[in-house]
Amino acid sequence: MLVNAADMLKQAEAGKYALGAFNTNNLEWTLAIFQAAEEAKSPLIIQCTAGAAKWMGGFKVCADMVKAAAEATGLSVPVALHLDHGNFEDCHTAIEAGFTSVMYDGSHEETFDLNLERTAEIVKLAHAKGISVEAEVGGIGGTEDGVTSNGELADPEQCRQIAELGVDFLACGIGNIHGVYPEDWAGLSFERLGEIKALTGDLPLVLHGGSGIPVDQIQKAISLGVSKINVNTDLQLVFAAATREYVEAGKDQQGKGFDPRKLLKPGRDAIVARTKELMEEFGSVNKA
Ligand code: 13P
Repeated sequence: MLVNAADMLKQAEAGKYALGAFNTNNLEWTLAIFQAAEEAKSPLIIQCTAGAAKWMGGFKVCADMVKAAAEATGLSVPVALHLDHGNFEDCHTAIEAGFTSVMYDGSHEETFDLNLERTAEIVKLAHAKGISVEAEVGGIGGTEDGVTSNGELADPEQCRQIAELGVDFLACGIGNIHGVYPEDWAGLSFERLGEIKALTGDLPLVLHGGSGIPVDQIQKAISLGVSKINVNTDLQLVFAAATREYVEAGKDQQGKGFDPRKLLKPGRDAIVARTKELMEEFGSVNKA
């Protein structure tokens, strides 16, 4: 059975470790992430963007697949299915479809007041159904059309205001960006993280763009109050590298090496191994 993410993140915040929130794209990804969590005995957040849900055939397909996979594999660790970066409408659709946690990303709304207003509405709707809510203050940069924007620093006062709405966890920019970090990246701002934490108390904070941040910075961020770390690109890279190696070695042309179960296996195994490594870095191993 899927659970919401509120309790597992409260425990992570109190215990000074973080949970990885791993993005899924399909069944292979889902089963690989589940295997890693089971072997590491780690609580798990598996998440999906609206774009990935569309790829899978919609939020309902994704939710039904994740639920059925958890049941069929006898997953014993707690798992939440979370909507990653949803807009207002996505949150409604994901909740209907059976997601147990949603992120309403109001950072792109025209004004902060609108972000506040809509976050409050989603909190009301979601909490009435036992679903946890992540909100976002400030934007999180990244690479679009080959141009990398700098990571923003969220305004601590705005973080305080959003926290007061009763959200369960909060994403705030501290210099992090989505995708591959540029060579000249300035690193995380621990100063800003400390300022935000001082105003938001024991609310679990979320670090987006968790791929490629040096381990010492990840661990310092956890010690200062980050309890959820989003990882997408990292698993895409290890999957692609393992698949490339298989094809470049000509294995898809040997015997039935073209069978998708053979072709996708190295990538799937690579996801399992890397996810376990990340769980170790985040401190969530044996916390289930
Ligand atoms: P990366 O793709 O950089 O790991 O970021 C994932 C993320 O933050 C999803 O919200």
